[in-house]
Amino acid sequence: MPASSASSKPEASVDLVKSLVRSVNARLAALELPAEPAVLYDPVRYVLAGGGKRLRPVLLLLTSEAFGASRDDSMPAALAVEVFHNFTLVHDDIMDHAAERRGRPTVHERWDANTAILVGDAMMGLSYDLLAQTRTDHLGTMLQVYSRMVARLCEGQALDMAFEQTVDVTVEDYLGMIEGKTAALLECALELGALVGGADVDTRAHLVQASRDLGRAFQIQDDLLDLTADAPGWGKTIGGDLIEGKKAYLLLCALEKTTETEVAGGNATEADAAFFRAILAQNGLDPSQVDEARTRMDRLGVLNGAKALVERHTEAGRAALEAALPPSEATTTLLGLVDRMGRRGT
Ligand code: IPE
Ligand code: IPE
Ligand code: MG
Ligand code: MG
Ligand code: MG
Repeated sequence: MPASSASSKPEASVDLVKSLVRSVNARLAALELPAEPAVLYDPVRYVLAGGGKRLRPVLLLLTSEAFGASRDDSMPAALAVEVFHNFTLVHDDIMDHAAERRGRPTVHERWDANTAILVGDAMMGLSYDLLAQTRTDHLGTMLQVYSRMVARLCEGQALDMAFEQTVDVTVEDYLGMIEGKTAALLECALELGALVGGADVDTRAHLVQASRDLGRAFQIQDDLLDLTADAPGWGKTIGGDLIEGKKAYLLLCALEKTTETEVAGGNATEADAAFFRAILAQNGLDPSQVDEARTRMDRLGVLNGAKALVERHTEAGRAALEAALPPSEATTTLLGLVDRMGRRGT
């Protein structure tokens, strides 16, 4: 690890991130949402008070700070990306038939799907309103960056859903899909931070490369933890992706490792191949078989392979960020955060 890395002052990095998360939470709690209709705004409040890592606003705040912007100037944009992210989760949980998020019932479970659709719509509007409150000379560009991100994220989510009905999805297809559903918002957070801080176009291009790697690291890790996380802290159904028949990274890898050639070569058994093909054929897995899926994937090296890929992309993303950002306490903190995110759950 380079000498300039955050590892030289890990406690300072952790403390600064914690204080940023606290600020974001306090500002979200202080948003003046109407009381009525309560059927709309109660669930909005429920979602925003639900915690979460607040990763995207922290990325934005640290990036803008690295370029010399004040926290006050960039906070509205940071809140905008977090509110937008929360909106995507509410709709994502409808699409993924997910019952749990952040350790609590999802909005469509606690209320109903129509409520969750409207709650998402209201949060999307709120996020644009917050973005427009950013104190900057670059609001027009920021709105363009934001709207492009919204389109890319929706495109990614559309592909994610389409993959559920497609038999021959490849890892390559999956990587393209997560550039939309996951990397686009990380990229937007970094780019908006750079814009508030007045960074030049070249710097912003470096941030695009960083977000591509960070997006891969983050989503592959999310897919891995979906099956391997320690239940209480994770807050989502363990094995949810397999139960739902999602073409997430682990299943695609397991399918690649259980082709006829692999079985003939001795690395995988006929039983492994039949097990994973049945998930495709039945569009999902019975919850009682989640442990078996984990054991088979572990033996085939799927879990270790995913972990290694997360580490590789975390390191590449970290290096791209280090090249793009001017040296500063905020940069050191950002790099430390990226390191810790890459090791999350391991
Ligand atoms: C979940 O995002 C959605 C993905 C892109 C994988 P986070 O893991 O950042 O969720 P919260 O905000 O911390 O709950
Ligand atoms: C969703 O990916 C990413 C979004 C754009 C919301 P996932 O469907 O894997 O996210 P989780 O696991 O439900 O948080
Ligand atoms: Mg989901
Ligand atoms: Mg999803
Ligand atoms: Mg997931």
